[in-house]
Amino acid sequence: MSLDLEASARALIRTDNFIGGQWLASQSGERFAVTDPATGRTLAEVAQSGAADARAAADAASRAFPAWRATLPKERAAILRRWHAAIVANEAALGALISLEQGKPLAEARGEVAYGASYVAWFADEATRIYGDVIPTQQRGKRMSTVKEPVGVVAAITPWNFPLAMIARKIAPALAAGCTVVAKPAEDTPLTALALVQLAHDAGVPPGVLNLVTASREATPHTVDAWLADSRVRKITFTGSTQVGKHLARESAGTLKKLSLELGGNAPFIVFDDADLDAAVEGLLAAKFRNGGQTCVCPNRVYVQRDVYETFAARLCARVAELRVGPASDPVSQIGPMINARAVDKIARHVDDAVEHGATVLVGGKRLEALGPHYYAPTVLGHASREMALCGEETFGPVVPLFAFDQEDEAVTMANDTPFGLAAYFYSQDLRRIERVSAALEAGIVGINEGALASEAAPFGGVKESGYGREGSRYGLDDYLSIKYLCQGGLA
Ligand code: SIN
Repeated sequence: MSLDLEASARALIRTDNFIGGQWLASQSGERFAVTDPATGRTLAEVAQSGAADARAAADAASRAFPAWRATLPKERAAILRRWHAAIVANEAALGALISLEQGKPLAEARGEVAYGASYVAWFADEATRIYGDVIPTQQRGKRMSTVKEPVGVVAAITPWNFPLAMIARKIAPALAAGCTVVAKPAEDTPLTALALVQLAHDAGVPPGVLNLVTASREATPHTVDAWLADSRVRKITFTGSTQVGKHLARESAGTLKKLSLELGGNAPFIVFDDADLDAAVEGLLAAKFRNGGQTCVCPNRVYVQRDVYETFAARLCARVAELRVGPASDPVSQIGPMINARAVDKIARHVDDAVEHGATVLVGGKRLEALGPHYYAPTVLGHASREMALCGEETFGPVVPLFAFDQEDEAVTMANDTPFGLAAYFYSQDLRRIERVSAALEAGIVGINEGALASEAAPFGGVKESGYGREGSRYGLDDYLSIKYLCQGGLA
């Protein structure tokens, strides 16, 4: 990364909590380090928040709610449009900041900025389209109608894999709906979120409407538990593991909060023998190696029909062997470091376990220690089977296990043989098969002859233990609204 670009990224760095329109150190005064996953160097020391900071953020959000909900939708839309413009104007610097703290290559990081910004623009428009209904009455003398109202204070808890896009697609619909927000970004990547909050403030988001606290992995439960126990926080929106999602669902039951949970996946990718194999290889590369495989919708299990298995494997391996791994700052890098040591250890454990259970390493299959401690080679494994840990657990890294199958129903059964149901993909050129398989797959998102599914206009979310609620699209506001039914009598 050029010194100028790194300097422009560093100019966006904020290290305190943002509460009630002010940058404040945590009440304990403690801090924790944010590091560059490529080198381990410390980028900044940010506030180590606890329950008192979380409560202060909820106080501010709660105080700001009545005035914010009373703003006109077009006023909220105008502020969101200014925020969008500020994000776009800072694309290069924000992209560099994402690369620094998360490790994705610069071009991909800039793509994330544009992707995240698209949700802000989308929900600026949606803010003005929150319609109610007039219900045809079935009782004389009564008029029945509905209005949609903001749910109240929203707690947004976001992951590290898309430090900008995930928080933007939670905050934008919340603000558009008239809700106020308390947010906590992932401990590995708080700097992009803090920068985003500064830009929102500059764009005119009033004090208290958007608040953000940071906390390390160990301290996070204190902040989140304070929100879980707080009856003023009416909704939690979370992207992360199914284990944490279940904890939030259990613990928010005490105050019956509304929940949106975008949780883990274990996406199947099926290649039928009538598929365009080159298109399937390209689709798999796009879906699997985005963010180095650290994406909830990444294919985790690749099922290939036996009569095209060898051909597909050979073409895939040729392309995977060409992928360039290196630091985000190197313009030729296509895959950067994994986020941290635990992530690389899990990938290595999955590959070792697969090999012990009979998998063959066709490409990669090793750490790239010469580059740094968090790099893992893009990997293709042949002869994958159900007993392997990578079949049941999300690897969250650049590993493609290939499973062979014979019949369509066998592939669908194996694809659905998981508690998760976020994304699923398949390649086929047979229209009747396309109808059958899209109906049979248990997933919230299905890619048909397509590996790149993300769009602000489309609903993102899962079924089964991948969670509930939808982000983006015209459905994305519903999770931040409640329906009020008005019944006016005495009209006969
Ligand atoms: C995720 O990995 O959770 C988000 C991926 C996306 O928005 O496509």
